Amino acid sequence: IVDLKGGPDEGLGRVGQSITIRGWVRTCRIQSSVTFIEVNDGSCLSNMQCVINSTSEGYNEVESGSVGIGASVLIEGTLVRSEGSKQKVELKVARLATIGTSDPSAYPIQKKRASREFLRTIAHLRPRTNTFSAVTRVRNALAYATHQFFQENGFVWISTPIITASDCEGAGEQFRVTTLIPSTGEGDNIPVDVVPTTRNGTIDWSQDFFGKPAFLTVSGQLNAEVYASALSDVYTFGPTFRAENSNTSRHLAEFWMIEPELAFSDLNDDMACATAYLQYVVKYVLENCKEDMEFFDTWIEKGIVNRLSDIVENDFIQLTYTDAIELLLKAERKFEFPVKWGTDLQSEHERYITEKSFGGRPVIIKNYPKDIKAFYMRLNDDEKTVAAMDVLVPRVGELIGGSQREERLEFLERRLDDLNLPKENYWWYLDIRRFGSVPHAGFGLGFERLVQFATGMENIRDVIPFPRSPGSAEF
Ligand code: 4AD
Ligand code: MG
Repeated sequence: IVDLKGGPDEGLGRVGQSITIRGWVRTCRIQSSVTFIEVNDGSCLSNMQCVINSTSEGYNEVESGSVGIGASVLIEGTLVRSEGSKQKVELKVARLATIGTSDPSAYPIQKKRASREFLRTIAHLRPRTNTFSAVTRVRNALAYATHQFFQENGFVWISTPIITASDCEGAGEQFRVTTLIPSTGEGDNIPVDVVPTTRNGTIDWSQDFFGKPAFLTVSGQLNAEVYASALSDVYTFGPTFRAENSNTSRHLAEFWMIEPELAFSDLNDDMACATAYLQYVVKYVLENCKEDMEFFDTWIEKGIVNRLSDIVENDFIQLTYTDAIELLLKAERKFEFPVKWGTDLQSEHERYITEKSFGGRPVIIKNYPKDIKAFYMRLNDDEKTVAAMDVLVPRVGELIGGSQREERLEFLERRLDDLNLPKENYWWYLDIRRFGSVPHAGFGLGFERLVQFATGMENIRDVIPFPRSPGSAEF
């Protein structure tokens, strides 16, 4: 049994051989003397055209109509040169066996192109389309390349907790966790005060994580800092959650984040790492996902392959927040949100900077005002800005957010006080500054935004298998 990877077009070397393939029927055209079935197994975009005639074993299954679009099949045959213009080789079928039938009239994905919105309502079937299988393969390649990059550079992968009591970003965008233990009603030995169910089995939603408040993590950074303060360079790669009720093409309630944390490092090391990382993973998909990338270039975003190649070869632009504001104030364009030193950049500003000012190259903006950034960022000598950096890319906007961390105990304590954040909740985080503190820096990259960037897909809901956003937790 072989998979279709490499594409049947590259199977010329195997002409004359007998092979067996498995997959799902994309089209089935029954003509008077022969039937053409196109089969795809998800290993690549190309379908195998299978030619069946009345002498093929299993022909009766075609006649009875059980091998319609969507059915799964196993096909044995001889690879021959194709006379059709679409493919170089095809499979002359000796034997066909239906594995799972599919009623073609009821199958939700018909040949004509379905809209992305519609496909979101059938998230269980959309991976069978070209676009979603290609996105899934590229996503996989990016994940593989991510681990490869960090492992090759001596980083240790850390699993940080999903359930946590701390709010890393301090933005209050957290989902709260509720304990839900079904009552057995048989004198179970869980103390009554932590059992959230009443004796008749209904749920007491006021209960938290075994009696203590807990939330889904918004970022693994604080935990990663702990490990960077012991193992030197580390990284996380896991799911994170944000309860922002925003319906945009760049936000999800559940997304995956990659967070490296570099010990004995400053903001420049951090920016260098972000640049090297992005160039590495982009190069990896350009080299290893050629067929899929050409597909995106043709159908999703014209010219994307060239634009990504440029990124691999050129340095990123760097400018300070203050310079960025100046640049925006000079723009001929009128913005919906007025620009002023001290306010956060909106996506219209980010797009202007990457798309208009620097011709599509990634831009790193650094040294943001301290008041618009999180408590853990290191205060610069001007005492007005912090050593933060965001990497902006065209269309997607903010792809990476990072900073040098405040490693000085007294500065960090003062910052927590200024923000009215209770120091006792951060005792362990402060301990890292008490015992062997070192300068360190890190960043967080939204993995789905990276997939958007690499594929050209417009909506973030179309680059994760099962998107979670306001109103959608089905599937
Ligand atoms: O800028 P953010 O909030 O930074 C942090 O969480 C830091 N603790 C990271 C660190 O320094 N270790 O988020 C980092 C990145 C953003 O740049 C963006 O790419 C992505 O996470 N992101 C989201 N992606 C999808 N949906 C959302 N709701 C996102 N919020 C942030
Ligand atoms: Mg950010």
